[in-house]
Amino acid sequence: MQISFVAPSDATAKAGRKEGGAWVVGAVEGSVLLPAAARLDKASGGALTRALKVSRFTGKTGQMLEVVAPSGIVASRVLLTGLGKAESVDEKGLETLGAQILGRLFTAGETEASIEIDVPKGSNVKKGELAAHLAFGAKLKSYAFDKYRTRNLEEYERKLKAIRIVAPDIAAAKKAYAGLDAVADGIFLARDLVNEPPNILHPEEFARRAKARLSRLGVKVEVLGEAEMKKQGFGALLGVGQGSARESQLVVMQWNGGKKNTKPFALVGKGVCFDSGGLSIKVGAGMQGMKGDMAGAACVTGTILALAQRKAKVNVVGVVGLVENMPDGGAFRPDDVLTSLSGQTIEVLNTDAEGRLVLADALTYTQRRFQPKALIDLATLTGAIVQTLGFEHAGIFSNTDELVRRVQAAGRFTGERVWQLPLDPFYDKMIRSKIADMKNIGGANSGAITAAQFLQRFVEKGVAWAHLDIAGVAWQDGEQKPTIPSWGTGWGVRLLNRLMKEHYES
Ligand code: BES
Ligand code: MN
Ligand code: ZN
Repeated sequence: MQISFVAPSDATAKAGRKEGGAWVVGAVEGSVLLPAAARLDKASGGALTRALKVSRFTGKTGQMLEVVAPSGIVASRVLLTGLGKAESVDEKGLETLGAQILGRLFTAGETEASIEIDVPKGSNVKKGELAAHLAFGAKLKSYAFDKYRTRNLEEYERKLKAIRIVAPDIAAAKKAYAGLDAVADGIFLARDLVNEPPNILHPEEFARRAKARLSRLGVKVEVLGEAEMKKQGFGALLGVGQGSARESQLVVMQWNGGKKNTKPFALVGKGVCFDSGGLSIKVGAGMQGMKGDMAGAACVTGTILALAQRKAKVNVVGVVGLVENMPDGGAFRPDDVLTSLSGQTIEVLNTDAEGRLVLADALTYTQRRFQPKALIDLATLTGAIVQTLGFEHAGIFSNTDELVRRVQAAGRFTGERVWQLPLDPFYDKMIRSKIADMKNIGGANSGAITAAQFLQRFVEKGVAWAHLDIAGVAWQDGEQKPTIPSWGTGWGVRLLNRLMKEHYES
């Protein structure tokens, strides 16, 4: 989607005269037309006012009123959108609106569109920000993953390829949008990685793509293969990948946009490119979608892209452990004991609890090499978190309340909500092993918590750490939110970007 910002004067003139296409304008609650809407109403001899009278439109958030081929103006249609109460218009709401507008225009089959929504009196949003956040929402909605369709392409084609957004201060809008556009590109990368099928996106291919996309933005990308990891002692991660015909990989991505010699913020992602369950094999229905078991790694990679592309003044290191969990004559077994990079031993009782094994070594490596000031890991770790929180919240577990509050605040701003669950020595006891330092599963209950307790055993002294279990939010097949496509959501890129911006950038 090509998005451009245009000045109000040309825009209004075009709506009335030369150019057609859809014209999108706004109203606040009480059916109060904003200036651009009022001008169009006048130019069309009161078409909007008449339509309002015979509709249920009142200007509430999410409402739309469409007038097709109004006389007096060349616009093919006027789309009046509701902004709700002026004082409650915020960035997140504008993104949703931008996405809803685009959805409507796609359905309508429009080929051209201009959006002219004025900042309503009483709202706190700045002029440039309004246009930029509308654009951001529209861009997120424009995402599609159609590369494997070869037939009936017309059915999927979106006719609308470009939109114009009217901005009173074009420079301010462009500046605000540049940062958001970088975030959108990070989200698109994360979605693409999640959506890509596992016969294509195996660990080496993931590593190759990460390197290709990030190197040219100035990110230092290193890839460790199996030989190197074996030498260093990644016994837990390599154990998981042992039954796969594909090589396991560890990708280390360093974005050093901050002050020299300041410790980085670390992001660690679970990258199970396909999770069959291994020898503790999943049932058919439970295995579907397990190409997305690398969503944590995709989120980390997408976030690094966003930060690098907008040249964020922060030092961040992203580390992703990439494996494929497969059953095979050489696969790891239930009852095996693995020695992790930390030296701690793990009795494997279920090969389907593999994510924590991958993360264990990735966490140890990250902390020992980088001594990060704080560390967040993201993983589609448990089915239990989906049962607990559904698709609305990710679960957060942490040893530092301040970090939890910051993550939650960032998520409230971006619409990626996070709910805290407990860590406690009682749960830790549930992963005691009869013969090794720990086992990789707890009991029948509180599965998301025992998984987090497991990870905590690999967090080193003094490190502020949070674990995000994103199994529920990383991919969605059912009810869609306007800014979220089917399947890979790109969850977390916005949140982490916001977190860095608010608290860690200089
Ligand atoms: N990748 C799964 C978790 C998952 C389940 C993600 C559903 C998304 C949707 C993870 O590796 C897994 O299999 N976890 C097991 C752990 C159990 C064996 C202790 C689970 O949650 O059932
Ligand atoms: Mn599993
Ligand atoms: Zn898994």
